[in-house]
Amino acid sequence: DNKPVFDMVLFGGTGDLVMRKLLPSLYQAHAAGLLNQNGRLWALGRKDLGRDAYLQQVEAEARIHIKHAFDAAQWQSFCQRIDYIQLDANDAAGFQRLAAALAAQEKRGEVICYLSTAPRYFTPICRHLAAVGLNGSQVRVVLEKPLGTDLASSNAINDAVAEFFNETQIYRIDHYLGKESVQNLLAIRFANVLFEPLWRRQWIDSVQITIAESLGVEGRGEFYDGTGALRDMVQNHLLQLLCMVAMEPPASLDADAVRDEKLKVLKSLKPLSAEDVARQVVRGQYKAGAINGAPVPAYRDEADVAAHSHTETFVAIKAEIQNWRWAGVPFFLRTGKRMQEKLAEIVINFRAVPLELFPGSAAAAPNRLVIRLQPEEDIRLYLQAKQPGNDMAVQSTFLNLDFCNVFHARRADAYERLLLDVINGKLALFMRRDELVAAWEWVTPIMDYWAANNTEPKLYTAGSWGPAASSALLSKSNTCWHEEL
Ligand code: BG6
Repeated sequence: DNKPVFDMVLFGGTGDLVMRKLLPSLYQAHAAGLLNQNGRLWALGRKDLGRDAYLQQVEAEARIHIKHAFDAAQWQSFCQRIDYIQLDANDAAGFQRLAAALAAQEKRGEVICYLSTAPRYFTPICRHLAAVGLNGSQVRVVLEKPLGTDLASSNAINDAVAEFFNETQIYRIDHYLGKESVQNLLAIRFANVLFEPLWRRQWIDSVQITIAESLGVEGRGEFYDGTGALRDMVQNHLLQLLCMVAMEPPASLDADAVRDEKLKVLKSLKPLSAEDVARQVVRGQYKAGAINGAPVPAYRDEADVAAHSHTETFVAIKAEIQNWRWAGVPFFLRTGKRMQEKLAEIVINFRAVPLELFPGSAAAAPNRLVIRLQPEEDIRLYLQAKQPGNDMAVQSTFLNLDFCNVFHARRADAYERLLLDVINGKLALFMRRDELVAAWEWVTPIMDYWAANNTEPKLYTAGSWGPAASSALLSKSNTCWHEEL
């Protein structure tokens, strides 16, 4: 077994993320034979649960989240890896119990501390880990978002962790980077010769990046109302996707080679002035509507949301990247809850042909590369072709790369891939501190402008594609969102 031996310590062991994502993903990795047989999982929680009671709870959740891939025998063998330790983040005794339990292990390897707790616990956890000697070079620490609510609070979290751990020990999760399809973006761009020469301002008119969800706030009203879509989705996931689309080819797939290129993109984003925010950013919030025919309430009527909340559930932004490759090309970013469907896609709109030879409006439709990340992964290249018949009329059609039908292998969930990367010590898909800082810096003027002006969000009907202002933002640049074509 040449896979690395590890002890993974899950802080927040009874929490949502551990139950819904981390343990199910680790189970999948276990079932696929990707974990060393001596890899152990230590769930930590404040509750005084015995191991059996904890495992019962985990199994009930796992049956829901793993669904058809749940196999009772495999599950039993997976559970052999799990232990539960009662621990309060502010109490040294639990950390001593943890250190003793790890020290008693026959085979020891990397120690991975996954901080799946509210960030206010990060400092005491790190301090106590260091106090029991669990911050040496064999220890990795995984930080789950939200990593702050603005630049200052994000810096405070990072400073606190940096007091006890080096940057190379810190794995900051952005689960979008673990998605198969996001990785594929790198392959499409850098393993083919076709696109790269065209991937620049001379040939590209505009870029759209959409992450739409049909879900609402799903019982997270209290958290969400203090957060909003800009912090929840734009500062992290959307800007990371933008980096993957816009970055220069890295010299290698080495973690820092990739992260250096992403950082350059973030640093080249044109800073938004107050006037820019007023003109180029749309803040939206859903009102009552229907999703697939079923009525859903307005955001302000969701549990734990303030009755007159201004929190945005939708954002659309026109961003610009000031470098030689992209100057003048608008990047339209958009995300929202309670949108018509769950959809994540990147649309590259190419320029129109210089001379129109063929009659008809389709002839004028420029080429488009549509990279769909969710719900299904596919890539469509829209081209014009001649319609059969005597007339020289052209019609828009597409070449389709449908990954599900081309590759039949099991597709790992984002968390599974990222957890395996932590176990294997691969940092490329985790955010470096300077990236986080640059991303916060770029969104700060938007937050400041909204706070200073108490900006009312524009309402949109749940189940639509967002407020009208979102379409207007694109029409000012003579384009439209992909679904409006
Ligand atoms: C999370 C956000 O980071 O991403 C959630 O906090 C959001 O609000 C989720 O629903 C979306 O992730 P996915 O993988 O379902 O697109």
